[in-house]
Amino acid sequence: MSIGYRDRALYCEAVALADIAADAGTPCYVYSAAIIRENFRAYDQALAAVPHTVCFSVKANGNLGVLRLLAQMGAGFDIVSGGELYRVVKAGGDPAKVVFSGVGKTAAEIEEALGAGIFVFNCESEPELALIDALAHRLGVKARVAVRVNPDVDARTHAYISTGRLAHKFGVDLGEAEAVYEHARAHKNLSVEGVSCHIGSQLVDTAPVMEAVDRVLELIDRLRARGFDIRHADLGGGLGVSYKPEQSVPAISEFAACIASRLAGRDLHLLIEPGRSIVANAGVLLTRVLYRKKTGEKDFVIVDAAMNDLIRPALYSAHHEIVPVRDTGAPASRVDVVGPVCETGDFLARDREMAGVFPGDLVAIRSAGAYGFVQSSNYNARPRAAEVLVDGAAWRIVRRRESYDDLVRSES
Ligand code: LLP
Repeated sequence: MSIGYRDRALYCEAVALADIAADAGTPCYVYSAAIIRENFRAYDQALAAVPHTVCFSVKANGNLGVLRLLAQMGAGFDIVSGGELYRVVKAGGDPAKVVFSGVGKTAAEIEEALGAGIFVFNCESEPELALIDALAHRLGVKARVAVRVNPDVDARTHAYISTGRLAHKFGVDLGEAEAVYEHARAHKNLSVEGVSCHIGSQLVDTAPVMEAVDRVLELIDRLRARGFDIRHADLGGGLGVSYKPEQSVPAISEFAACIASRLAGRDLHLLIEPGRSIVANAGVLLTRVLYRKKTGEKDFVIVDAAMNDLIRPALYSAHHEIVPVRDTGAPASRVDVVGPVCETGDFLARDREMAGVFPGDLVAIRSAGAYGFVQSSNYNARPRAAEVLVDGAAWRIVRRRESYDDLVRSES
């Protein structure tokens, strides 16, 4: 079960992508339920030796169909907003398995999370601890908290998605962590139960992660020696995926087993927050070629998806493979794949050697299941794409394409 060619036609599991495009239209995100399940299971099984909860990071893909699939497998969820909590609950997720991260939680969001009975707040500053304490007091509950520490390791990934250095806005410095824990202990309505950390995303090298894990475990030893009853360690997400066929990344099983081995015998519940590694390679963005056009130096393939649908190439210079949905064997050439948005930055690939495609042809932009639809916008008054979930031979639209009416619904 995967996304691949059969008789020169690209399939997602047992469904031809051309059939989906004919019905759902383009641009359209398509996700494979089998791949999502397989990736989730790979984490769950590799961590079997230690008590654990795999908390899917909702920011990577918040579609209700995707969240429901994961909730049914027993996933917990990592959220960063009240909106993400709302999605998790709507999808049937268990609030008791939710961790709430983020540097800017508002009072309203904290109250919603306390009301829902989430598992833990990953707190990022002393004022945040004080606010959670005050709100918990008002609601007559005790809030479970962990402090997110910044281990000051270099994640060696794109600057915009690296989070674990002292110059970043995330967490509290490891050197100040014990003072912050003492501060937290003084709040009567907080139950200080964990330590959390997350050093960045699209990590293809596990060494920095293991370095961070070791620093967190050392901190836990010191906190326990001071009498803190630390019960869990949240080691964040971050495992990268292969965006290019030749790019090798650690397998989920290998990465997770390595983390589990560090925690063995420590009487700690392990939480991890993977997003990308569960959904990225489970998704494609289907788009249709509108025109071809040559300018002085360039050969452009103009498609009906644009930077508003998938901003990763424009924002991070990210590479996504682009393949024809019908492999006609047309000779390859070097092209720029661009969308209709009025910006030179609106490209999906630049100077890409790619199989020949022509107006009317469908192409699939691969590895688009994570940080794809969730980062899409209505820029240029473009309705956002449809989303489809495939499961074996069945498929359904899990988010319909927006209409023009949707574009103006909240305006007056
Ligand atoms: N936990 C925390 C606290 C995070 O900040 C993130 C991602 C994750 C977990 C999940 O990380 P993952 O397993 O997906 O690497 N938009 C960017 C990625 C931003 C990641 C932000 N934080 C992209 O398209 O590459």
